[in-house]
Amino acid sequence: MANSTPHLLLIATGGTIAGRAASAQDNVAYRAELGAAELVAAVPALAGVPMRTVQLAQMDSKDMSHAIWQALTLTLAAELAREDVAGVVITHGTDTLEETAYFLQRVLAPAKPVVLTAAMRPATSLQADGPQNLLDAVTVARTPGARGVLAVLGGQVHAGDEVRKADSYCLQAFDSAPAGPLALVEEGRLTQLRPWPQGKALGEALCQRPVADWPRVAWLTSHAGFDASLLDAAVAAGFHGVVLAGTGNGTLHAALESAAARAMQAGMVLRLSTRCASGRVVGEAARAVPVSTTHSPAQARVALLLELLAR
Ligand code: SIN
Repeated sequence: MANSTPHLLLIATGGTIAGRAASAQDNVAYRAELGAAELVAAVPALAGVPMRTVQLAQMDSKDMSHAIWQALTLTLAAELAREDVAGVVITHGTDTLEETAYFLQRVLAPAKPVVLTAAMRPATSLQADGPQNLLDAVTVARTPGARGVLAVLGGQVHAGDEVRKADSYCLQAFDSAPAGPLALVEEGRLTQLRPWPQGKALGEALCQRPVADWPRVAWLTSHAGFDASLLDAAVAAGFHGVVLAGTGNGTLHAALESAAARAMQAGMVLRLSTRCASGRVVGEAARAVPVSTTHSPAQARVALLLELLAR
């Protein structure tokens, strides 16, 4: 494609959307095998859409790494700076999509659309949802004025820093409670419900340092019978930060509360989230552990990682 022709870039990273199973009835035992060009070829309506493709990875997103985030971020920064790139679509596994989307929105906050999409069923399934999701993602990426990191699945457009996987198996697996989707894509038509994301970018320079030197950040969930030696072990192992996903409105088991005080005394940075499927921790002033502003513990971990990277 000539450099000056306005076009989309599709970056493929694997996931169920690229999955191939032995039978059309098998929705769980598959491998990510379909390449970027095959994903596009499976959607006849994309035939006339000017698009370049890049295969950045071919992975199950449970294995997503900081190294891939670094490569993805630097690739995106370079591509989005090109005048002829109108927007980007990223195919991704559903399992960590909310983490990648949050990371990219906070680091790049792009003025062009960067649309993540995925599928809950492999490409070989009777119920394959990947082709429609990919078509909808392209529709969003081509929408004049669309901007920011977005996630398009099941006909809904979610903000990258709000989206979360809410169901392990059903086709309509994503939400962005409590605010809800930014837009809907129905029969190829986009209906916008809320403004596109506008955040301030931290900047890609933040993630240029070798990933081996990135802060070590984990997340622990409070639960009945919590064994505080887990957090003590994280301190001893040299973790720099831990997100504590509390019960309900961010309450912590007494054993974890004591361990949290010891950890902060030792210099570890803690942030409080909730293990509830929706809602944030309310009542920040009364907390011994500072409250994360994110929607899920998964995104709280990424927020803390970025906070420590920026120090
Ligand atoms: C993955 O996250 O790579 C596997 C699960 C999925 O894409 O639905």
